[in-house]
Amino acid sequence: MESLDWKNLSFGYLKTDYNVRCYYKNGKWGELEISSSEFIHLHMAATSLHYGQEAFEGLKAFRGNDNRIRIFRWKENARRMHDTALGIKMSPVPEELFRKAVFTVVKLNEKYVPPYGTGASLYIRPLLIGSGAEVGVKPSSEYLFMVFVTPVGPYFKEGFKPVDIMVCRDYDRAAPLGTGCYKVGGNYAASLTSLEIAHQKGFSTALYLDPKEKKYIDEAGPANFFGIKNNCYITPSSKSILPSITNLSLQQLSRDIGLQVECRPVPFDEVSSFDEVGACGTAAVITPIRKIIDPDTGKIYEFCRDGNPGPVSKKLYHLLLAIQNGDEKDIHGWNDCIE
Ligand SMILES: Cc1ncc(COP(=O)(O)O)c(C=O)c1O
Repeated sequence: MESLDWKNLSFGYLKTDYNVRCYYKNGKWGELEISSSEFIHLHMAATSLHYGQEAFEGLKAFRGNDNRIRIFRWKENARRMHDTALGIKMSPVPEELFRKAVFTVVKLNEKYVPPYGTGASLYIRPLLIGSGAEVGVKPSSEYLFMVFVTPVGPYFKEGFKPVDIMVCRDYDRAAPLGTGCYKVGGNYAASLTSLEIAHQKGFSTALYLDPKEKKYIDEAGPANFFGIKNNCYITPSSKSILPSITNLSLQQLSRDIGLQVECRPVPFDEVSSFDEVGACGTAAVITPIRKIIDPDTGKIYEFCRDGNPGPVSKKLYHLLLAIQNGDEKDIHGWNDCIE
């Protein structure tokens, strides 16, 4: 793939050669199929189209200096997709089918896994949709599970550079007892207006507060939030945020480097006491936050005053990437190689 400008890839869709698909019908999953079409044939009354029976996942494959391709923590994504499926009454994808689909599609598109050292990776997008026709509001009896891949660069165009974000109180991406903890398309649709407002005002993303009281921090657009102070990694626990696998990994790496870890409700008022704050996720990795602007009070909370990411964020970022790329020993067994 000499023609791709690996170092300047954006976080966008690029066509690759193959995707894989599997259909659930008559109470069971069929055989995994390989396709080279970018399109799916879907009934116009499919529940995914009308009632939002749709779940997706996002994980990455990295090419190491040894040229091996490593897939990061796929079992966690399989588990989360399983939980999401149950949460919106879809037939869950068995872990072995998830594994086979992910490993097959990466192997088939091996040439699109960006070279070591480019900062790019292969984004893997599993998708599960209700495909059966219904008109009444009820779960489908048929599903399509598919996985496609696309090579990507950083999610925020700034890469590992501090960004400014804006507190959002006028819109919620999820309800207090809703589907915020699941990776369903509806949450993202609900976030589009607030993200557009944030972008129009020149911010990278919106910081959501808890939808019940607007007192605690929830998450930062499509990424979890963390703060660092007093040798401690602090991240919100909330029923309305997506349980981020990157966040889980950063919590473990924080312990490994001797930090305390607190996963608890984080009042927005606490923001001013943090030394460093950041957003984390598969796409964002760690995105350090420079300023949090609160448009309702006019307050501006500033971090990274020298323009650079803070020392702890920097350490965690490099450690996580080193494990993903195979440069650092994978002591927690997070990577699985494509053979
Ligand atoms: C709403 C939301 N929060 C957090 C995350 C980060 O999760 P992960 O680290 O598993 O990618 C994502 C991305 O998947 C997301 O969409």
